[in-house]
Amino acid sequence: MIVQDTALRNEWIVACRSVDVQDRPLQVTVMGERVVLFRNEEGIHAFKDLCIHRGAALSLGCVRDGKLVCPYHGWEYEASGACVKIPQLPSHQAIPGKARAIPFGCTERYGFVWVNLNSNAPDFFSLPEFDAPGYRNVIWGPQTVNAKPPRVVENFLDVGHLAVVHVGYLGVETHMAIGDYHVHRDENGIRTDEIAVFQPDPDGTGQAKHVYYTYEILRPLTVKFTKRDRETNNEMSILLTVMPLDENQSVAYGVLSFNYETNMTDEEINSFQDMIFAQDKPIVENQKPEDLPLDLQVELSLKCDRASIAYRQYLNELGVKLGTA
Ligand code: FES
Ligand code: FE
Repeated sequence: MIVQDTALRNEWIVACRSVDVQDRPLQVTVMGERVVLFRNEEGIHAFKDLCIHRGAALSLGCVRDGKLVCPYHGWEYEASGACVKIPQLPSHQAIPGKARAIPFGCTERYGFVWVNLNSNAPDFFSLPEFDAPGYRNVIWGPQTVNAKPPRVVENFLDVGHLAVVHVGYLGVETHMAIGDYHVHRDENGIRTDEIAVFQPDPDGTGQAKHVYYTYEILRPLTVKFTKRDRETNNEMSILLTVMPLDENQSVAYGVLSFNYETNMTDEEINSFQDMIFAQDKPIVENQKPEDLPLDLQVELSLKCDRASIAYRQYLNELGVKLGTA
């Protein structure tokens, strides 16, 4: 079932990692829509994964001379979506104008392929760490979650759970209280003040200390936190972006950025993040209601939930329907 959500169809939605699209076309399901991604010399392209001739999945075909070739009767589509070759037609017959694939917006950024299902995409959010000198970026995901995207995103913005769900890793039992903070909104987006969190080993040196979290809401399904050590100025940030697979399932991806030496390989960083994510997963998959209540009276919020409240208000303003109530 195609997810009918105009606000989200207008967004850039992560489809897969850049490395996932090589010489062969790839099928991805984005918001219930089967999409084919393929690469040619000009870059990466996305079409509805459907041949207008007999409904074959174009992703089962191949890329030849920069064109996407249908696996069934060999029709060839150029990047604009126009069909430029129909092998069954005698050479003097023109290709019908209706012979087209349906193109979607598609771009590569920050190690990922992003699609826009409405060709009405907003400006891309900026991730300064990604190109900044002195930063190392690690691509994380995919991780599939049986929950709707807003619950997954809100979990990421939730500072109160760190010392509970991730006790021993991202928090300790003796430091569970969260100091007050505010959420600020300007032309650069929505961000919190720095929030102190006491962690057992925030940077891999084995020393427990306070680190300071800043949460940012960049887009409805893309958020970020930066965790800073005030003594060393070590900074690590995680960008989380969620793809709605269909009405009920989410696929999470991330970019982890570090401005210091972690002494960990990309694989080790990924397995640590997978382990942390696995702690959140059963919580998020069992939250009720599945739809995030945008009426702030429906659940009971604390002051430390200000980031989540700002997120709910933002979804409400944008008119996001998927996973909200
Ligand atoms: Fe694609 Fe026939 S179904 S060419
Ligand atoms: Fe968590």
